[in-house]
Amino acid sequence: MIHLTQRPRRNRKNAAIRNLIQENSVTVNDLVFPLFMIDGKNKKTEVKSMPGIFRRSPDLLLKEIEECLKLGITTFDLFPNLEDSLKDKKATESHNKKGLYLSTLKEIKKKFPEAILMTDVAMDPYSSDGHDGLVKNGEILNDETLEILAKMAIAQAESGADIIGPSDMMDGRVGYIRRALDEKGFSHVSIMSYTAKYASAFYGPFRDALDSTPKFGDKKTYQMDPANSKEALIEAELDFTEGADFLMVKPALSYMDIIKLLNDNYNLPIAAYNVSGEYAMVKAAAAKGWIDGDKIRDEILLSLKRAGASVILTYFAKEFALAKK
Ligand code: PBG
Repeated sequence: MIHLTQRPRRNRKNAAIRNLIQENSVTVNDLVFPLFMIDGKNKKTEVKSMPGIFRRSPDLLLKEIEECLKLGITTFDLFPNLEDSLKDKKATESHNKKGLYLSTLKEIKKKFPEAILMTDVAMDPYSSDGHDGLVKNGEILNDETLEILAKMAIAQAESGADIIGPSDMMDGRVGYIRRALDEKGFSHVSIMSYTAKYASAFYGPFRDALDSTPKFGDKKTYQMDPANSKEALIEAELDFTEGADFLMVKPALSYMDIIKLLNDNYNLPIAAYNVSGEYAMVKAAAAKGWIDGDKIRDEILLSLKRAGASVILTYFAKEFALAKK
């Protein structure tokens, strides 16, 4: 026998000891479940590139939320899929109280006041240009967009939103929205800022889900360059000083260094958005039998916790909750 002072394997020798020393774990309390809605009744269409994820009409969405609440999922991030005829340059539909999104929000909140509703603030689901901001002569206008975003955020708060999620990446939007909410008496409504949102190919399946692919160009003049990390610190500093309650990093898996960077430098909770393309890759490889999808799902969520995320937005939320039942 060789004498070794340190034998790290001693702490791995059985499940009880491994559990005893485990530094991180995932529970359903950590998860936010993104949900897609469409107009109609008793309608449910699967997103082709996201097996197991559906766009639901309001009646079926209510049922889904009820099931999820029973499984212990508390928080939902809602996105509308709108017909092209409702889209215009100014995203007018985004503040139509009688429209699909806001009326459904209200209905959910009425039926399930305990459900925490997060809403998305950006123009793309409502924009005929498919961009997050107002387009003029091929340019995305920053300051003109802020006004539209604030109007959208107020309408969402009035319809029952608990957490506003600006995903648009315009400069100054967190402060602008914070002030607008406060002026209207919504100082209790939170902001989860998409702080470091990268111009990423991982959003492809989400744009299928919403039919929101940009009609021209890409989002690189507002979303961040995947090559950079220092910009994430600038964005975090702005969001912190402008009043964000959570700092989000998106996508999650290729950006774990950014999750850690923000967590090391800021005392706000960090959220990671485990995006559509990350979900799709796991589902596709698992369907081929190339990986164990359930184990990979759990490992991904755990690794995001380890990296420093205290909140994870993930399409795996419901199946994770079901698996842990
Ligand atoms: C749009 C928005 C996007 C996502 C959330 N909000 C896509 C985009 O910026 O093009 C992506 C979510 C995902 O891929 O799961 N403002």
